Amino acid sequence: MRLRLEGVALSFEGARGERNRALDDVTLEVGPGVTGLMGRTGSGKSTLLEVMAGALRPDAGRLLVDGRDALRGPGARALAASVGLVFQLPERQFFEPTVEREVSFGLLARGVAPDEARARSARALALMGLSLDGLAGRSPFSLSGGERRRVAIASVLALGPRLLLLDEPTAGLDPRARAACLEAVRAAGAAGATVVMASHDANALAAVADRVVALEGGRVTLDGPVRELLGDAPLMRAHGLEPACAARAASALARAGLSVTGSPLTADELAEAVCRALGAGGSRGVVSGGRS
Ligand SMILES: Nc1ncnc2c1ncn2[C@@H]1O[C@H](COP(=O)(O)OP(=O)(O)O)[C@@H](O)[C@H]1O
Ligand SMILES: [Mg+2]
Repeated sequence: MRLRLEGVALSFEGARGERNRALDDVTLEVGPGVTGLMGRTGSGKSTLLEVMAGALRPDAGRLLVDGRDALRGPGARALAASVGLVFQLPERQFFEPTVEREVSFGLLARGVAPDEARARSARALALMGLSLDGLAGRSPFSLSGGERRRVAIASVLALGPRLLLLDEPTAGLDPRARAACLEAVRAAGAAGATVVMASHDANALAAVADRVVALEGGRVTLDGPVRELLGDAPLMRAHGLEPACAARAASALARAGLSVTGSPLTADELAEAVCRALGAGGSRGVVSGGRS
């Protein structure tokens, strides 16, 4: 599905009754695949995701889902039926007494039969490296931070949403859980879902995003293919953003006199680019089989 924001603005009331702009004239269209959302804290990422999810109503502008007004009527219902939002704070999502009820809630609400809901919940939790049998009766609030986040992600993945919005989903995850999360995000995008993932983790975005959008002060400041943005360390730095590690290394190598081409985004790509630059014959044998 395609989601379009046109001239979206949203302000929050400050402590002294003043209006603070969190989103300012945002025009943006997202479609199938993974779009990464970057920007420093306070730049408006969470607010933008909540507007996209229909959870926050903009003060001005339009929200369109497949060309239909998504702020009211059938368009709003279509959006609500298709969207899954993983909140920045998992606790904001939890409202059921047990993990099993939490993860299966959305499925049961959509009329999925209890057995099928349980099976789909178990599969979603397994994707995140958790076992339904082990956690079913636990309160979501009794879990560790990383487990809470994984349960929150699983409860959204279980719905198989066509519009999947994730707010810093890898924050606080250990490397294995982070890899599982990124694989689930990548798979959703590859399966045709429209995925938007906000993250400070440039390497995570480099691994899964097709396109990156950067926000600053509630405005879109960069929008382009992931390699052109995250692979360009000087550009990212000029916008106060973190480039992918491989891009940082490539730019340090360039300063040291080794001309690395191709804007590498991952460790494997960097190794291949270094081999090319050294005239060592590239990928054959030297770096094959590695993963990053
Ligand atoms: N519920 C709220 N009440 C008041 N101000 C808010 C609220 N939510 C966000 N803001 C403000 O809106 C701006 C954007 O916040 P947010 O969307 O959370 O940014 P990000 O997710 O990029 O850190 C910030 O200045 C923040 O303080
Ligand atoms: Mg945020």
